[in-house]
Amino acid sequence: MSLHHPSPSVDNNASRMQRRLNTLYSHLVMASNFSPINDLGMMKNYHDEIIVENNKTNAAGGKEKTTSILMNKFPKGMIEESDFKIVQVDFEQPLASEGDWIVIKLLQLSVDPYMRARMAPKTPKGYFPAFKLNEPLHGGCIAKVLSSSTSVQHRYKQGDLLFGYFNWQLVQKVTVGAKFETIYQIVKIDPKLKVPSSNYLGILGMPGVTAYHGFLDICQPKKGEVVVVSAASGAVGSIVGQIAKLKGCFVIGISGGSEEAMKELKSAGFDSLINYKDYPSTSTLKTAIEKASPSKEVDCYFDNVGGYILDAVTLCMAKYGRMSLCGAISQYNDTGAEMGPRMNSLYVVRELKVQGFLISSYQKRYQEAVQQLAQWTLEGKLKALETKVKGFENTPKAIIRLFSGEQKLGKMIVDCVE
Ligand SMILES: NC(=O)c1ccc[n+]([C@@H]2O[C@H](COP(=O)([O-])OP(=O)(O)OC[C@H]3O[C@@H](n4cnc5c(N)ncnc54)[C@H](OP(=O)(O)O)[C@@H]3O)[C@@H](O)[C@H]2O)c1
Repeated sequence: MSLHHPSPSVDNNASRMQRRLNTLYSHLVMASNFSPINDLGMMKNYHDEIIVENNKTNAAGGKEKTTSILMNKFPKGMIEESDFKIVQVDFEQPLASEGDWIVIKLLQLSVDPYMRARMAPKTPKGYFPAFKLNEPLHGGCIAKVLSSSTSVQHRYKQGDLLFGYFNWQLVQKVTVGAKFETIYQIVKIDPKLKVPSSNYLGILGMPGVTAYHGFLDICQPKKGEVVVVSAASGAVGSIVGQIAKLKGCFVIGISGGSEEAMKELKSAGFDSLINYKDYPSTSTLKTAIEKASPSKEVDCYFDNVGGYILDAVTLCMAKYGRMSLCGAISQYNDTGAEMGPRMNSLYVVRELKVQGFLISSYQKRYQEAVQQLAQWTLEGKLKALETKVKGFENTPKAIIRLFSGEQKLGKMIVDCVE
């Protein structure tokens, strides 16, 4: 066997991998303008349209019942189960010959921290619109087409699997209008691909793309640099840490996860893990970070949590350090404003670059991110870490778990049908 020519089996494996990648890309980018990232402008324009449509279906007074999860009241502080209402609603099967529609059944749904900001009478300026009281919440879902009108059967037929932003209603009719793919940000999933459909909610979906652009574009990591990521056991953080490792960095994760979760993160490539619950103050956490870092400093910080963890890492930043501010989950349920130390001069003297971002701004570059993420995942270089909660009715419990300190690892997904 020549060293310079791959053996037929290696060659076959490589071309099989290339074929799988090609098929995966073609499906991920099939809908023009598609991106599974919430587009801010689009959500503003079409929010009402989505809600009204499903209300019409519910009001039809049909013979079948289905389950819907509504916003019952806006949470005050920490989210509670009573903030949601699980109701049985009428569902009427539409006539195949009338209109352009699909009837879908939710199989899996994603619960995300950003939903907390939308559970308020008003959202911050420049953010997505608030959820409405007594209407179904919505978010990224994997759904199966149960039936479709004759007019759209050439595009969507019984048994097709879709990713889309759908209402939290187990069975629902969705109108396939001219802007259907754009409004619902549809991806058709090929079950023959060796990618679990849940990956479209995590590593190949919004959290994966957030990790990719938010880390690589803003932090611009270099080989050998020290990277710290908080909420390292979360959907975004677990991917940031793995990407940092692929870029040759020394990666420190900050997490409050279980021993099991920490072990998983280690095996995914994290060099060092700090449990923030062992270091409940800025000064003790700062010392722990300095101890974990080979240079005693931090070159890049990807912040998912804000609060005192952000303060502690900021104090460890090296000259010309870069900080990507992705989220502040430790503050989402706060009722008052939190005050931290003012570090204005530190930013100046260490010449830090500090940038916040919303992934909706990267919508046009979705394809670039997902192609790279898909390749790394299929090559086994990225692990898709997921925690699954069983049962659509347990969705409120699943969303509460994002904030409650209950242990989880990676993307939190609800399996709607047990
Ligand atoms: N900028 C954007 O466009 C964008 C897009 C997506 C997500 N985000 C933000 O990115 C962050 C991570 O999102 P994600 O989807 O990865 O979330 P996730 O999967 O729900 O993970 C969040 C993790 O945060 C940790 N956490 C919760 N409360 C905490 C607290 N008080 N202090 C410290 N850690 C806490 C928990 O892990 P432990 O076990 O470590 O406690 C939890 O598992 C969130 O802030 C989210 O809002 C921003």
